[in-house]
Amino acid sequence: MVHKAEYIKSQESSISSILQGGYNHQLSREWQQERQLTKNMFIFPLFISDDPNEETEIPSLPNIKRFGINTVVPYVESLVKKGLRAVILFGVPLKEGVKDEVGTAADDPEGPVIQAIKILKKNFPNLFIMCDVCLCEYTSHGHCGILNEDGSLKRELSVQRIAAVAVNYAKAGADSVAPSDMMDGRIKDIKLGLMNCGLENKVLVMAYSAKFSGNLYGPFRDAAGSAPSHGDRKAYQLPPGGSGLARRALIRDMEEGSDAIIIKPSTFYLDIINDASKLCKDYPICAYHVSGEYAMLHAAAEKGIVDLKGIAYESHQGFLRAGARLIISYFTPEFLDWLEV
Ligand code: PBG
Ligand code: ZN
Repeated sequence: MVHKAEYIKSQESSISSILQGGYNHQLSREWQQERQLTKNMFIFPLFISDDPNEETEIPSLPNIKRFGINTVVPYVESLVKKGLRAVILFGVPLKEGVKDEVGTAADDPEGPVIQAIKILKKNFPNLFIMCDVCLCEYTSHGHCGILNEDGSLKRELSVQRIAAVAVNYAKAGADSVAPSDMMDGRIKDIKLGLMNCGLENKVLVMAYSAKFSGNLYGPFRDAAGSAPSHGDRKAYQLPPGGSGLARRALIRDMEEGSDAIIIKPSTFYLDIINDASKLCKDYPICAYHVSGEYAMLHAAAEKGIVDLKGIAYESHQGFLRAGARLIISYFTPEFLDWLEV
């Protein structure tokens, strides 16, 4: 029998105001997520230099190393065993005198990216091999395209060069090319280039469509040696306040034939990821948790401000909540340990 007092108490609050019963158990909390993090959504960045035996730590990017084509295979093997499905390659020419005005080293057949594609494909036939396509790691001036005398971009020539590099990565066996240069019109030229050599039905074009300029790429530029020698990237990477411009870039790249879309950085641009999930709802949408975001979380954990595993989950769950389906993340090795599937 219900005591009168208890009965009255249960009437006091309305039924719909009580939510906590819905997430009192670890499992019911997981049920509240619309989508769960899984290993198959992680893409791991790999820095590959032209020193075949290199294995160098990058001070500003904790736990991340730069590898050579000999050292990368055993490292990737250890990750494939844990369930790694996809990598994205960044080439780092360290030899003196290989950088020039047009980034010739980007698709040098003996260079680090082409060599790494081949050796990884041979050793891990099921691993999805993506290549970042850009010139900044290979140009003498460190900009992402080809420049005029006054430092402005030669758009058409840059796009042709970027497309040629992308096609050469595809010919070497890459499963996907991901142009991060932000030159207008490059997606169309890449797609046409792939069609010209019969690779359009084998290679996924993942466009860095909404890539914002800002302060979060510093550790990457340390790792890749790709900081511009003069000026900045504001004439091609998007202004951080420009959400309308980002939406136009997303639409433009879909129209030019992109197969998937990247938003970058991630944590500070969750609204753009969410916009993309609606505007590009029929496309895989990828969030890039960039080097500066990763380094900031490590720094905060070192200072005792956050718990590293906790904040890694919280940030990456945020990307899914916003609408991403894929994540390029330097935390990939940790998540392969933390996740069951
Ligand atoms: C090359 C490129 C950059 C990143 C991805 N591709 C650097 C840049 O644009 O300066 C940044 C990734 C990161 O910070 O983790 N254009
Ligand atoms: Zn670049």
